[in-house]
Amino acid sequence: MNILVTGANGQLGTELRNLAANGKDRWIFSDVSQVPGLETLSLDVSDLDTLRLLSESESVDLFINCASYSDVDKAESDQSLADSINHLAAASLAKVSFERGAFLIHISSDYVFHGDSSVPYKEDDETDPLGVYGVTKLAGERAIENSGCSYLILRTAWLFSPYGHNFVKTILELSAERPNLRVVFDQIGSPTYAADLAKFICDVVDRRQFIDGRIYHITDEGAISWYDFAKAISEIAGGYDVLAGKARRHCDILPCHSEDYPSAARRPHYSVLDKSLVKRDFGVTLPYWRDSLLKCIDRIFGMREKA
Ligand SMILES: NC(=O)c1ccc[n+]([C@@H]2O[C@H](COP(=O)([O-])OP(=O)(O)OC[C@H]3O[C@@H](n4cnc5c(N)ncnc54)[C@H](OP(=O)(O)O)[C@@H]3O)[C@@H](O)[C@H]2O)c1
Repeated sequence: MNILVTGANGQLGTELRNLAANGKDRWIFSDVSQVPGLETLSLDVSDLDTLRLLSESESVDLFINCASYSDVDKAESDQSLADSINHLAAASLAKVSFERGAFLIHISSDYVFHGDSSVPYKEDDETDPLGVYGVTKLAGERAIENSGCSYLILRTAWLFSPYGHNFVKTILELSAERPNLRVVFDQIGSPTYAADLAKFICDVVDRRQFIDGRIYHITDEGAISWYDFAKAISEIAGGYDVLAGKARRHCDILPCHSEDYPSAARRPHYSVLDKSLVKRDFGVTLPYWRDSLLKCIDRIFGMREKA
Protein backbone atom coordinates (compact mmCIF):
# COMPACT_ATOMS: atom_id res chain seq x y z
CA MET A 1 0.00 0.00 0.00
CA ASN A 2 1.28 3.49 -0.88
CA ILE A 3 0.62 5.96 1.93
CA LEU A 4 0.95 9.72 1.55
CA VAL A 5 1.31 11.67 4.80
CA THR A 6 0.66 15.40 4.50
CA GLY A 7 1.99 17.92 7.04
CA ALA A 8 4.58 15.25 7.81
CA ASN A 9 7.05 17.58 9.53
CA GLY A 10 4.64 18.54 12.31
CA GLN A 11 4.30 16.76 15.65
CA LEU A 12 2.06 13.89 14.56
CA GLY A 13 3.66 13.52 11.15
CA THR A 14 7.14 13.23 12.69
CA GLU A 15 5.96 10.55 15.13
CA LEU A 16 4.39 8.65 12.22
CA ARG A 17 7.70 8.88 10.41
CA ASN A 18 9.48 7.43 13.47
CA LEU A 19 7.15 4.42 13.55
CA ALA A 20 6.48 3.83 9.87
CA ALA A 21 9.96 2.52 9.14
CA ASN A 22 8.93 -0.78 10.78
CA GLY A 23 5.87 -1.35 8.59
CA LYS A 24 5.41 -3.30 5.34
CA ASP A 25 3.91 -0.40 3.38
CA ARG A 26 5.51 2.34 1.32
CA TRP A 27 5.23 5.63 3.17
CA ILE A 28 5.70 8.99 1.45
CA PHE A 29 6.12 12.02 3.68
CA SER A 30 5.18 15.46 2.41
CA ASP A 31 4.94 18.95 3.85
CA VAL A 32 4.81 22.55 2.72
CA SER A 33 8.11 23.24 4.47
CA GLN A 34 11.36 21.30 4.66
CA VAL A 35 13.30 20.24 7.77
CA PRO A 36 17.03 19.54 7.39
CA GLY A 37 17.76 15.80 7.62
CA LEU A 38 14.16 14.71 6.93
CA GLU A 39 13.37 13.45 3.44
CA THR A 40 10.17 15.30 2.60
CA LEU A 41 8.29 15.75 -0.67
CA SER A 42 7.27 19.35 -1.14
CA LEU A 43 3.47 19.53 -1.12
CA ASP A 44 1.13 22.37 -0.27
CA VAL A 45 -2.15 20.56 0.42
CA SER A 46 -4.14 23.57 -0.66
CA ASP A 47 -2.79 23.15 -4.22
CA LEU A 48 -5.31 20.71 -5.74
CA ASP A 49 -3.53 20.27 -9.09
CA THR A 50 -0.19 19.34 -7.52
CA LEU A 51 -1.96 17.09 -5.03
CA ARG A 52 -3.69 15.26 -7.89
CA LEU A 53 -0.48 14.92 -9.93
CA LEU A 54 1.54 13.67 -6.98
CA SER A 55 -1.15 11.20 -5.94
CA GLU A 56 -1.19 9.85 -9.49
CA SER A 57 2.59 9.60 -9.85
CA GLU A 58 2.98 7.95 -6.43
CA SER A 59 -0.13 5.71 -6.87
CA VAL A 60 -1.45 6.73 -3.47
CA ASP A 61 -3.89 4.29 -1.83
CA LEU A 62 -4.14 5.98 1.56
CA PHE A 63 -3.84 9.63 2.60
CA ILE A 64 -3.08 10.54 6.20
CA ASN A 65 -3.76 14.25 6.60
CA CYS A 66 -1.64 15.73 9.39
CA ALA A 67 -1.37 19.15 7.71
CA SER A 68 -2.98 21.89 9.68
CA TYR A 69 -3.06 25.56 10.53
CA SER A 70 -2.52 24.96 14.25
CA ASP A 71 -2.03 28.40 15.79
CA VAL A 72 -5.37 28.86 17.55
CA ASP A 73 -4.78 32.55 18.41
CA LYS A 74 -3.26 33.60 15.10
CA ALA A 75 -6.16 31.96 13.24
CA GLU A 76 -8.45 34.69 14.60
CA SER A 77 -6.73 37.31 12.42
CA ASP A 78 -5.66 34.92 9.63
CA GLN A 79 -9.03 33.37 8.90
CA SER A 80 -8.47 32.95 5.17
CA LEU A 81 -5.24 30.94 5.52
CA ALA A 82 -6.65 28.86 8.40
CA ASP A 83 -9.69 28.06 6.25
CA SER A 84 -7.61 27.23 3.20
CA ILE A 85 -5.54 24.64 5.14
CA ASN A 86 -8.01 23.25 7.70
CA HIS A 87 -11.08 23.27 5.47
CA LEU A 88 -10.43 23.70 1.75
CA ALA A 89 -7.33 21.50 1.67
CA ALA A 90 -9.20 18.78 3.57
CA ALA A 91 -11.91 19.09 0.91
CA SER A 92 -9.28 18.74 -1.84
CA LEU A 93 -7.81 15.65 -0.21
CA ALA A 94 -11.30 14.16 0.04
CA LYS A 95 -11.93 14.97 -3.63
CA VAL A 96 -8.71 13.30 -4.77
CA SER A 97 -9.35 10.32 -2.44
CA PHE A 98 -12.79 9.91 -4.04
CA GLU A 99 -11.41 10.20 -7.59
CA ARG A 100 -8.72 7.60 -6.90
CA GLY A 101 -10.80 5.27 -4.74
CA ALA A 102 -8.25 5.87 -1.98
CA PHE A 103 -8.91 5.99 1.78
CA LEU A 104 -8.46 9.17 3.82
CA ILE A 105 -7.50 9.34 7.49
CA HIS A 106 -8.01 12.91 8.67
CA ILE A 107 -7.21 14.46 12.05
CA SER A 108 -9.59 16.87 13.72
CA SER A 109 -9.89 18.56 17.08
CA ASP A 110 -11.68 18.80 20.42
CA TYR A 111 -12.06 22.54 19.63
CA VAL A 112 -15.06 21.75 17.40
CA PHE A 113 -17.00 21.72 20.69
CA HIS A 114 -18.20 24.73 22.64
CA GLY A 115 -16.96 23.50 26.01
CA ASP A 116 -20.04 24.14 28.12
CA SER A 117 -20.47 20.44 28.91
CA SER A 118 -19.41 18.82 32.17
CA VAL A 119 -19.29 15.28 30.81
CA PRO A 120 -17.01 13.99 28.04
CA TYR A 121 -18.16 14.77 24.50
CA LYS A 122 -19.38 11.88 22.34
CA GLU A 123 -18.82 11.80 18.58
CA ASP A 124 -22.40 12.76 17.74
CA ASP A 125 -22.76 15.52 20.33
CA GLU A 126 -23.60 18.94 18.95
CA THR A 127 -20.59 20.87 17.66
CA ASP A 128 -20.34 24.61 18.21
CA PRO A 129 -16.78 25.91 17.95
CA LEU A 130 -15.77 29.08 19.78
CA GLY A 131 -13.06 30.31 17.43
CA VAL A 132 -11.80 30.35 13.86
CA TYR A 133 -9.54 27.32 14.36
CA GLY A 134 -12.47 25.18 15.53
CA VAL A 135 -14.78 26.56 12.83
CA THR A 136 -12.29 25.70 10.09
CA LYS A 137 -11.55 22.24 11.54
CA LEU A 138 -15.30 21.53 11.64
CA ALA A 139 -15.71 22.75 8.05
CA GLY A 140 -12.91 20.34 7.07
CA GLU A 141 -14.78 17.45 8.72
CA ARG A 142 -18.04 18.38 6.95
CA ALA A 143 -16.34 18.65 3.55
CA ILE A 144 -14.91 15.15 3.96
CA GLU A 145 -18.25 13.72 5.13
CA ASN A 146 -20.00 15.22 2.09
CA SER A 147 -17.36 14.23 -0.46
CA GLY A 148 -18.36 10.62 -1.02
CA CYS A 149 -14.82 9.41 -0.29
CA SER A 150 -13.96 6.61 2.15
CA TYR A 151 -12.68 8.24 5.34
CA LEU A 152 -11.92 7.95 9.02
CA ILE A 153 -11.83 11.17 11.04
CA LEU A 154 -9.95 11.12 14.35
CA ARG A 155 -10.69 13.97 16.75
CA THR A 156 -7.87 14.42 19.21
CA ALA A 157 -6.71 17.06 21.72
CA TRP A 158 -3.80 18.82 23.43
CA LEU A 159 -1.03 17.10 21.44
CA PHE A 160 2.49 17.12 22.87
CA SER A 161 5.77 15.66 21.64
CA PRO A 162 9.49 16.49 21.48
CA TYR A 163 8.81 18.21 18.11
CA GLY A 164 7.43 21.53 16.92
CA HIS A 165 5.52 23.91 19.15
CA ASN A 166 3.58 22.53 22.06
CA PHE A 167 2.67 23.22 25.68
CA VAL A 168 5.21 20.81 27.19
CA LYS A 169 8.15 22.44 25.40
CA THR A 170 6.87 25.93 26.22
CA ILE A 171 6.51 25.16 29.93
CA LEU A 172 9.97 23.53 30.03
CA GLU A 173 11.50 26.66 28.52
CA LEU A 174 9.56 29.25 30.53
CA SER A 175 9.85 27.47 33.87
CA ALA A 176 13.64 27.32 33.47
CA GLU A 177 13.78 31.10 32.93
CA ARG A 178 11.09 32.68 35.08
CA PRO A 179 10.46 32.80 38.84
CA ASN A 180 6.74 32.22 38.32
CA LEU A 181 4.19 31.38 35.65
CA ARG A 182 0.43 31.84 35.61
CA VAL A 183 -1.47 29.05 33.91
CA VAL A 184 -5.24 28.72 33.45
CA PHE A 185 -6.98 26.18 35.65
CA ASP A 186 -10.48 26.59 34.16
CA GLN A 187 -9.86 24.82 30.84
CA ILE A 188 -10.05 21.06 31.18
CA GLY A 189 -8.94 18.58 28.53
CA SER A 190 -6.91 15.45 27.86
CA PRO A 191 -3.21 15.82 27.00
CA THR A 192 -2.27 13.40 24.23
CA TYR A 193 1.21 12.21 23.34
CA ALA A 194 1.55 12.46 19.55
CA ALA A 195 3.52 9.18 19.63
CA ASP A 196 0.48 7.41 21.16
CA LEU A 197 -1.80 8.71 18.41
CA ALA A 198 0.78 7.81 15.75
CA LYS A 199 1.00 4.27 17.17
CA PHE A 200 -2.79 3.94 16.95
CA ILE A 201 -2.78 5.11 13.32
CA CYS A 202 0.07 2.73 12.39
CA ASP A 203 -1.82 -0.16 14.03
CA VAL A 204 -4.95 0.76 12.04
CA VAL A 205 -2.85 0.69 8.87
CA ASP A 206 -1.05 -2.57 9.73
CA ARG A 207 -4.34 -4.31 10.57
CA ARG A 208 -6.20 -2.66 7.66
CA GLN A 209 -8.88 -1.55 10.12
CA PHE A 210 -10.23 1.05 7.72
CA ILE A 211 -13.64 1.59 9.28
CA ASP A 212 -15.34 3.76 6.69
CA GLY A 213 -17.39 6.91 7.18
CA ARG A 214 -16.93 7.40 10.90
CA ILE A 215 -15.64 10.02 13.33
CA TYR A 216 -13.83 8.73 16.43
CA HIS A 217 -12.55 10.49 19.53
CA ILE A 218 -9.06 9.52 20.60
CA THR A 219 -6.85 11.08 23.29
CA ASP A 220 -4.71 9.76 26.12
CA GLU A 221 -6.58 8.77 29.29
CA GLY A 222 -7.32 11.29 32.03
CA ALA A 223 -8.61 14.87 32.16
CA ILE A 224 -6.85 17.84 33.77
CA SER A 225 -6.46 21.61 33.51
CA TRP A 226 -3.55 23.35 31.77
CA TYR A 227 -2.45 24.39 35.27
CA ASP A 228 -2.26 20.78 36.50
CA PHE A 229 -0.47 19.84 33.29
CA ALA A 230 2.11 22.61 33.78
CA LYS A 231 2.67 21.54 37.41
CA ALA A 232 3.32 17.95 36.29
CA ILE A 233 5.73 19.06 33.53
CA SER A 234 7.72 21.28 35.88
CA GLU A 235 7.83 18.61 38.59
CA ILE A 236 9.05 15.88 36.22
CA ALA A 237 11.63 18.18 34.59
CA GLY A 238 12.99 19.15 38.03
CA GLY A 239 13.86 15.50 38.60
CA TYR A 240 16.02 15.44 35.45
CA ASP A 241 17.99 18.52 36.51
CA VAL A 242 18.60 16.99 39.95
CA LEU A 243 19.81 13.80 38.26
CA ALA A 244 22.14 15.85 36.05
CA GLY A 245 23.47 17.64 39.16
CA LYS A 246 22.01 20.99 37.99
CA ALA A 247 20.36 23.46 40.35
CA ARG A 248 17.04 24.13 38.68
CA ARG A 249 15.75 27.64 39.11
CA HIS A 250 12.58 27.40 41.19
CA CYS A 251 9.49 28.45 39.28
CA ASP A 252 6.12 28.82 41.01
CA ILE A 253 3.31 27.63 38.76
CA LEU A 254 0.26 29.63 39.78
CA PRO A 255 -3.38 29.06 38.79
CA CYS A 256 -5.33 31.78 37.00
CA HIS A 257 -8.70 32.19 35.28
CA SER A 258 -8.98 32.36 31.49
CA GLU A 259 -10.10 36.01 31.75
CA ASP A 260 -6.86 36.86 33.61
CA TYR A 261 -4.87 35.56 30.64
CA PRO A 262 -6.21 37.45 27.61
CA SER A 263 -5.73 35.70 24.28
CA ALA A 264 -7.07 36.36 20.79
CA ALA A 265 -9.13 33.16 20.68
CA ARG A 266 -11.72 31.93 23.16
CA ARG A 267 -11.13 28.31 24.16
CA PRO A 268 -13.53 25.70 25.51
CA HIS A 269 -13.66 25.41 29.30
CA TYR A 270 -14.19 21.68 28.99
CA SER A 271 -13.22 19.68 25.91
CA VAL A 272 -12.73 16.17 27.25
CA LEU A 273 -13.58 13.59 24.57
CA ASP A 274 -15.44 10.35 25.27
CA LYS A 275 -13.35 7.51 23.85
CA SER A 276 -15.76 4.61 24.40
CA LEU A 277 -16.36 4.11 20.66
CA VAL A 278 -12.72 3.91 19.61
CA LYS A 279 -12.02 1.45 22.43
CA ARG A 280 -15.00 -0.71 21.45
CA ASP A 281 -14.47 -0.72 17.68
CA PHE A 282 -10.65 -0.91 17.57
CA GLY A 283 -10.02 -2.80 20.82
CA VAL A 284 -7.44 -0.22 21.78
CA THR A 285 -6.08 0.49 25.28
CA LEU A 286 -5.11 4.12 25.62
CA PRO A 287 -2.16 5.24 27.75
CA TYR A 288 -2.57 7.55 30.76
CA TRP A 289 -1.36 11.08 29.93
CA ARG A 290 1.15 11.23 32.81
CA ASP A 291 2.85 7.96 31.84
CA SER A 292 3.22 9.32 28.31
CA LEU A 293 4.41 12.71 29.59
CA LEU A 294 7.24 10.91 31.45
CA LYS A 295 8.27 9.22 28.19
CA CYS A 296 8.11 12.47 26.25
CA ILE A 297 10.18 14.47 28.74
CA ASP A 298 12.69 11.63 28.90
CA ARG A 299 13.11 11.91 25.13
CA ILE A 300 13.38 15.70 25.24
CA PHE A 301 16.16 15.58 27.86
CA GLY A 302 17.83 12.73 25.95
CA MET A 303 17.83 14.85 22.78
CA ARG A 304 19.29 17.81 24.68
CA GLU A 305 22.15 15.64 25.95
CA LYS A 306 22.96 14.49 22.42
CA ALA A 307 22.79 18.04 20.97
N1 LIG B 1 -1.53 20.35 18.41
C1 LIG B 1 -2.63 20.11 19.11
O1 LIG B 1 -2.69 20.37 20.33
C2 LIG B 1 -3.84 19.52 18.44
C3 LIG B 1 -5.03 19.38 19.16
C4 LIG B 1 -6.15 18.82 18.52
C5 LIG B 1 -6.06 18.41 17.21
N2 LIG B 1 -4.90 18.59 16.53
C6 LIG B 1 -4.87 18.19 15.12
O2 LIG B 1 -3.91 17.14 14.97
C7 LIG B 1 -3.28 17.23 13.68
C8 LIG B 1 -1.78 17.21 13.85
O3 LIG B 1 -1.42 18.30 14.69
P1 LIG B 1 0.10 18.69 14.94
O4 LIG B 1 0.19 19.26 16.30
O5 LIG B 1 0.99 17.55 14.52
O6 LIG B 1 0.24 19.89 13.88
P2 LIG B 1 1.55 20.71 13.55
O7 LIG B 1 2.67 20.29 14.42
O8 LIG B 1 1.15 22.14 13.50
O9 LIG B 1 1.90 20.19 12.07
C9 LIG B 1 1.16 20.59 10.97
C10 LIG B 1 2.10 20.52 9.77
O10 LIG B 1 1.33 20.91 8.63
C11 LIG B 1 2.16 21.78 7.87
N3 LIG B 1 1.38 22.60 6.97
C12 LIG B 1 0.83 23.83 7.19
N4 LIG B 1 0.24 24.27 6.07
C13 LIG B 1 0.41 23.31 5.14
C14 LIG B 1 0.04 23.20 3.77
N5 LIG B 1 -0.64 24.19 3.14
N6 LIG B 1 0.38 22.08 3.10
C15 LIG B 1 1.06 21.09 3.71
N7 LIG B 1 1.46 21.15 5.00
C16 LIG B 1 1.12 22.24 5.70
C17 LIG B 1 2.87 22.59 8.92
O11 LIG B 1 3.98 23.28 8.37
P3 LIG B 1 4.40 24.69 9.04
O12 LIG B 1 4.80 24.38 10.45
O13 LIG B 1 5.51 25.15 8.17
O14 LIG B 1 3.16 25.56 8.98
C18 LIG B 1 3.27 21.50 9.89
O15 LIG B 1 4.48 20.86 9.49
C19 LIG B 1 -3.84 18.51 13.04
O16 LIG B 1 -4.91 18.18 12.21
C20 LIG B 1 -4.37 19.31 14.21
O17 LIG B 1 -5.41 20.18 13.86
C21 LIG B 1 -3.78 19.11 17.11
